[in-house]
Amino acid sequence: MRIDIVTIFPTFFDALDISLLGRAREDGILEVGVHDLRDFTHDRHRTVDDKPYGGGAGMVMKPEPWGEALDAILGEQVPDDGADREGGPIVIFPSPAGEVFTQAMARELSAADHLVFGCGRYEGIDHRVFDYAGSRASVRLVSLGDYVLNGGEVAVMAMIEAIGRLIPGVIGNPESLVEESHEDGLLEYPSYTKPASWRGLDVPPVLMGGNHGAIATWRRDAQIERTKSVRPDLLPPAQSP
Ligand SMILES: C[S@@+](CC[C@H](N)C(=O)[O-])C[C@H]1O[C@@H](n2cnc3c(N)ncnc32)[C@H](O)[C@@H]1O
Repeated sequence: MRIDIVTIFPTFFDALDISLLGRAREDGILEVGVHDLRDFTHDRHRTVDDKPYGGGAGMVMKPEPWGEALDAILGEQVPDDGADREGGPIVIFPSPAGEVFTQAMARELSAADHLVFGCGRYEGIDHRVFDYAGSRASVRLVSLGDYVLNGGEVAVMAMIEAIGRLIPGVIGNPESLVEESHEDGLLEYPSYTKPASWRGLDVPPVLMGGNHGAIATWRRDAQIERTKSVRPDLLPPAQSP
């Protein structure tokens, strides 16, 4: 997979050099390009923002540098004539006004060949940039959750980590991806390791008994209990409290 990121804080993404995603880059599974939006400006101050039309507090990101950045990244890959974009690049703009990012979306996006992330700052990006990007590629506005961050960088890091770990070959043991929170609609069961007793707290005996059926039943019950108490909204209607 190829990932391009446009940001005014390129060093924010240095963290993609480390851990599993860093190794995936070394192994050639993941190719990442980080682009400084200011490199697509032409004035002495490398200006990327201006006052909002209609007034109001804060500044809005200007469309021109975004247009040039998208042109440079998308190049000739997609005709700008509205042709079929199936399998083409997907441009993702993090936004608190977007659809909420989920594990299902991460899985869907992990099958893409090319993702482009555009990190907003200030009061956000001139809306015409989304329309223009939509004439060149598939575009999605995606929210990390119902709260407001200062910029898109944290949201993009979270999305890249969630998407990247689902790309085949990034995680050594793909089985570890299956039994996780949100994969089957429930939260994961609690996990334990040695020692069996620690500071007066014991591991549930069923997990140490070697009875795989009993362990599976305990884990399923624990998943349902945990989901009921923390995230009842995730339960199918039959299991809702
Ligand atoms: C201060 S926010 C702008 C918020 C915008 N004025 C609004 O009310 O929708 C600046 C940037 O942070 C990012 N951002 C903020 N909250 C986010 C969230 N919940 N999910 C994804 N991105 C977010 C977006 O890139 C956004 O353009």
